[in-house]
Order: sequence, then C-alpha cells, then structure tokens
Amino acid sequence: MSKKLIAPSILAADFGNLQRDVEMINNSKADWFHLDVMDGVFVPNISFGMPIIKNIASHATKTLDAHLMIVDPDRYIKTFAELGMNYLTVHYEACTHLHRTLQAIKAEGMKAGVALNPHTNVSLLEDTINDIDLVCIMSVNPGFGGQSFIENTYSKVRKLKEIITKNNASTIIQIDGGVTNKNAQQLVDAGADVLVAGSYVFRSENPTETIQGLKDLLA
Ligand code: DX5
Ligand code: ZN
Repeated sequence: MSKKLIAPSILAADFGNLQRDVEMINNSKADWFHLDVMDGVFVPNISFGMPIIKNIASHATKTLDAHLMIVDPDRYIKTFAELGMNYLTVHYEACTHLHRTLQAIKAEGMKAGVALNPHTNVSLLEDTINDIDLVCIMSVNPGFGGQSFIENTYSKVRKLKEIITKNNASTIIQIDGGVTNKNAQQLVDAGADVLVAGSYVFRSENPTETIQGLKDLLA
C-alpha cells in the first residue's frame, strides 16, 4: 500500500458535540474513523458502547475501524458487524484462540485486525500473519488518550514489516498512541500504513488543518 492513511480517534472528540466532530472528520482529509471500545477489565478505563457507536456510524461517511480493548471479544463480533464496522481489531492478549477469532470476524464480512500491547513481541504473529488484515501496534499502553509515544515502536514496526514481506502477506500496519507530526514520517519510513491520532488532532486549534497537515507530511 503506497497511500498512507490517517485515522482520527473519536476517544479524544467532544462527546457533547459528537455529531459536529463526526462531520468534521467527514469533511476533512482523514481516511478512517478509529473507535476505541474499552471494558474496564482488559484496560483500566471504560469508553463508549453500542448506542454511541450506532450514532457515530449513522453520521460517518468513511471507513469504520473499531479497536476492541475488551476481554473475550468473540462475544460481540456479530454485534459490531451489525453496527457497520469495516475493520474489527481484537487484542492478541485477550484472545485464547486468536486464529478462530480472526476467522469469525471475517465470516461476518469485516477485515480482521490484531492489536499488540507494547510488551508483546511481533514475532508472535508469524504463524497467523496471512490471516490478519491489519496489525495495530500500540505505541502507548492501551486505556487512555494523550500519553507519550514509546520509542521502541519503530523497531517493532520494522520487524513486523519484515515478517509481512517474508510471508508475502498483504497485512497493513497501524500505529496507535502518541502519534504527532514529530513521529509520523519516521513511522511511515519504518513501514506503517495507518496512523491513529487522537489528542494531537482534537486538542489542536484547528483539527481539520491538523489532519491536512499530517496527510501533507505523508504525501
Ligand atoms: C488508547 C487508544 C488510542 C487513543 C490514542 O488506548 O487505543 O486509540 O485514542 O490517543 P492519542 O493519539 O491521544 O494517544
Ligand atoms: Zn485505539
């Protein structure tokens, strides 16, 4: 994939003005909506659930990318398909039978993603890489927006890219956490395809221009 994608994270949006922020992304140069679902068990935070996602989906006009930070994600695969998700990403650390979970996601017509916590080695995906549409490398510990980027991420991206190339896989690499204009280019150079950005976009003075700035940087 030569075109690099930007996925603003709704976690950092203004929930009192959610439709406004969804429209902002619709009208911006952003490529995807990144939706962070947290259960208060897998991560020490609770974000939003089905009624909110349903509303976001009803206004959003771009690819919907759900990142499930929940235990036993198999319970909700069908529900997320019904909500219109295009990508469904589960955590490696939350899946006892990852291969089965990936097949179940694809059987519902969605692209299957696997997220890795900062401590999880990318080599653990060597045996499943051809079954994975997207790998989300967490560049912060999942649970909260606004944390600082973990520098070790670059080497993880390079190692993962090698695994993908070696296996002739079409898996794309997403980076999630602490992404800004300071690390975007280096991440793409290492092999990243999709950059998630939450607070960098929504806490900026002009989110539309910030998105445009990231896209220009990667063009
Ligand atoms: C963290 C979430 C991220 C978060 C990124 O658990 O998975 O998607 O929203 O936020 P920033 O870009 O602020 O680090
Ligand atoms: Zn996320």
